[in-house]
Amino acid sequence: MRFDVVTLFPEMFAGVASLGVVGRAATAGEVVVRFRSPREFGHGRHQTVDDTPYGGGAGMVMRVDCVVACLEALDADAPVGPAGAIRGHRILLTPRGTPFGQKRALELAAFPAITLICGRYEGIDERIAGFIDEEVSLGDFVLSGGEVAAMAVIDAVARLLPGVLGNPDSLASESHSSENGGLLEYPHYTRPVEFRGLRVPEVLAGGNHAAIDAWRRGQSLDRTVTSRPDIAPRAK
Ligand code: ADE
Repeated sequence: MRFDVVTLFPEMFAGVASLGVVGRAATAGEVVVRFRSPREFGHGRHQTVDDTPYGGGAGMVMRVDCVVACLEALDADAPVGPAGAIRGHRILLTPRGTPFGQKRALELAAFPAITLICGRYEGIDERIAGFIDEEVSLGDFVLSGGEVAAMAVIDAVARLLPGVLGNPDSLASESHSSENGGLLEYPHYTRPVEFRGLRVPEVLAGGNHAAIDAWRRGQSLDRTVTSRPDIAPRAK
């Protein structure tokens, strides 16, 4: 799968694209991450990409022409496959978007390519709406740009791709997975068996797998009801 990122700060992605699960998937050729900056298509000596808002008001607005030129350049350079060059499904990261979640991550993992568009300043000129496929928000808070949100989407989607996680069984039990009934994941323990008076629950060391499964299920339910009463009703 290909991730194309439109960003003024590609350096911010160095870690997510080269380390951990996504880094390994990139080395193995399971994912390709490309970056392109609207600055390349900026205006004047300073390659300016922003301007003051029509109608007045605080801050600067990203120009739509520079962002669209960047999107089109990414598509023009897209690697050619048997079905021709694949245009990425275009996602604008914005606090006004649809809240991102595990369900959407799974759906996005089925696309051959997605393009993540990161705004800065007060956002991108509204006319970008005609050049994107959807708007996604990381949550009800405001980041200083879409980059951190784009990294979250890349990480959440890439780890769902077949062959990317070393042990795909862990996908089934983790928080928010449908196999887990949408519950939060149960707690994990490892050695030492006692740390500063805190012991690993007896049931986990007992080897009775039915008892362990029942205990974990109970923990998942308790945690979901306590920490996320909003999602508990949908949990089965
Ligand atoms: N850009 C700024 N804030 C954001 C958010 N909450 N989600 C996605 N993109 C953003």
